[in-house]
Amino acid sequence: MNKNKVTVLDFAGKKEAGEKITMLTAYDYSMAKLIDSVGVDSVLVGDSLAMVALGYDSTIPVTMDEMIHHSKAVRRGVERAFLIGDMPFMSFQVSDEDAVLNAGRFVKEAGCEAVKIEGGGEVSSRVKAITGAGIPVVGHIGLTPQSVNKLGGYKVQGKDAESGKRLLEDALSLEKAGVFAVILECVPKDLARRITSKLSIPTIGIGAGEYCDGQVLVAHDIVGYFEKFVPKFVKQYANISSTIKEALTKFKEETESGAFPDDEHSF
Ligand code: KIV
Repeated sequence: MNKNKVTVLDFAGKKEAGEKITMLTAYDYSMAKLIDSVGVDSVLVGDSLAMVALGYDSTIPVTMDEMIHHSKAVRRGVERAFLIGDMPFMSFQVSDEDAVLNAGRFVKEAGCEAVKIEGGGEVSSRVKAITGAGIPVVGHIGLTPQSVNKLGGYKVQGKDAESGKRLLEDALSLEKAGVFAVILECVPKDLARRITSKLSIPTIGIGAGEYCDGQVLVAHDIVGYFEKFVPKFVKQYANISSTIKEALTKFKEETESGAFPDDEHSF
């Protein structure tokens, strides 16, 4: 085992030490290896796979088999970071038994070290059942994309006092049920600060401001590889799509003109 291997204990350790936790998504071997090589703490095989890598309009259609297939590829690229598999829609909603069996697939078949589950107090029994089987769980509240039809769109959550209070209660229920961290997606930063200060486990924000104990983003978004839309909370550190398009265009032009392949690229 890599001696700097990140484990579930490092999440609590970082919160205690006041050090920020970093997490990025990956869906394949190459991106996973790049993320791992720069020392990011955790890699999430997010169900955003559905939209970013598989071209669906929402995260709802992605299946367990697709998540496992991509998680296996990511596993092969990650040595140091803590690897988390995202439980897709309908892999845990029906029963605790389903939840344990599907979480078990992420660990046993794909080599994930934890799973993520969307939802608040209503998923407490799932969290207890999965952690009871020896699998660490990350919670995910706020904007939970699997519930987009119930939420009426991809909107900031917890904007008024009552819904903010509900989110705090959800976070506390999840902590009580045994999650080791909770993702806060698209919530006002003052609410995220309040939740972060009330929990002993770390909060990891995505569109939740600077007071969270860590940050998670979709890697394809921050390098500009997903062009369909760019959420407000995404900071683009590169524009890899235009670099790729330039290279693809040059290949096309040089092949058509006969400039490629030249002697350097022939035997
Ligand atoms: O599916 C995903 O990628 C996610 C996050 C970015 C938190 O759930």
